[in-house]
Amino acid sequence: MTFWNELKAPFFSLAPMEDVTDTVFREIVLQNSSPGNLGVVFTEFVSTDGLCHPVGREKVKHRLLVSGSEQELLRENGVKIVAQIWGNNPEKFAESARFVESLGVFDGIDINMGCPVKNVVAHGSCSALIDKPELATAIIKATRNSTSLPLSVKTRLGVKQIETTRWISQLLELPIDALTIHGRIQKQMSDGEANWNEIGVAALLRNAINSNVVLSGNGDVEGIDDGVTRIAKSGVEGAMVGRGIFKNPWMFGSTEMPDLEKRLQTMHAHVSLFEATWTNTKNYMLLRRFLKIYVNGIFDAAYWRTELMKTNSYDEFYRVYNRICKTLL
Ligand SMILES: Cc1cc2nc3c(=O)[nH]c(=O)nc-3n(C[C@H](O)[C@H](O)[C@H](O)COP(=O)(O)O)c2cc1C
Repeated sequence: MTFWNELKAPFFSLAPMEDVTDTVFREIVLQNSSPGNLGVVFTEFVSTDGLCHPVGREKVKHRLLVSGSEQELLRENGVKIVAQIWGNNPEKFAESARFVESLGVFDGIDINMGCPVKNVVAHGSCSALIDKPELATAIIKATRNSTSLPLSVKTRLGVKQIETTRWISQLLELPIDALTIHGRIQKQMSDGEANWNEIGVAALLRNAINSNVVLSGNGDVEGIDDGVTRIAKSGVEGAMVGRGIFKNPWMFGSTEMPDLEKRLQTMHAHVSLFEATWTNTKNYMLLRRFLKIYVNGIFDAAYWRTELMKTNSYDEFYRVYNRICKTLL
């Protein structure tokens, strides 16, 4: 039994998203969550090649930062944090899992077997492992044997076609504690609708093969109500939210959309925490994708969005922010 089995269904997780779910954004989501609504958060995916190389580790270890203030919020809200790793070499997975555990801040390790992006697939990693059952098995076993942390896998339904029965059954026979299934195949990337009927087929397989594995569905979940409905229909325990958080970063706090003041306050909190955390290590431009979230729906949103999209520095941001406050509050 692991924390996964102790999560009360239906539960929610925040998806691993590169350049999105760093310690700063996770903290913003946690600040705006109510205890009990969010069960698990994931880091961005972290390369095992990087973690196993002295220079590479320096380059990727920011992805495993969990700030002191984030740790406090995780504890207060009873939310678990899982580090996601990717690669193609079982020994490097084992070494990376030991390193992740040694950091002492993570509740679990997740193996990425779902990312469809060209360069990782060409490297034989992530969703490419769906077509390499022996290597996938070796990776899971090597990771399992090198850490006592709970182990999960995040994957898709297939590569070129749906292969739920072959692939998900294989995973369920391996020593994993939890499985997240994104209801698309590799070829789809993020296109089309996620296939939650097929996630339901996976839930039946889980019931038959290994009922200890905790299942989450992923794909197109827009909020708590939508997630609860999808969980009930498909027979999984959890729903993982990815892009839905861009539309509503407050979704784990309240069903109401926040007022203008709260939106602006969250935007300011996000930018200032990002600046304090990453000033010399991450580019300001990474923040711009978030800014439009916060002004969506405010008066004259198109104008303010354009003004914010023109900002190239923290100073420029604070100038536009002050103008928004002066004009609208
Ligand atoms: C910007 C971005 C970055 C992502 N990075 C990762 C990642 O690091 N690891 C991973 O397993 N999936 C990653 N994904 C996929 C999401 O975790 C999720 O599976 C996918 O977006 C489908 O869920 P959604 O429809 O709720 O967005 C990423 C998705 C996006 C949009």
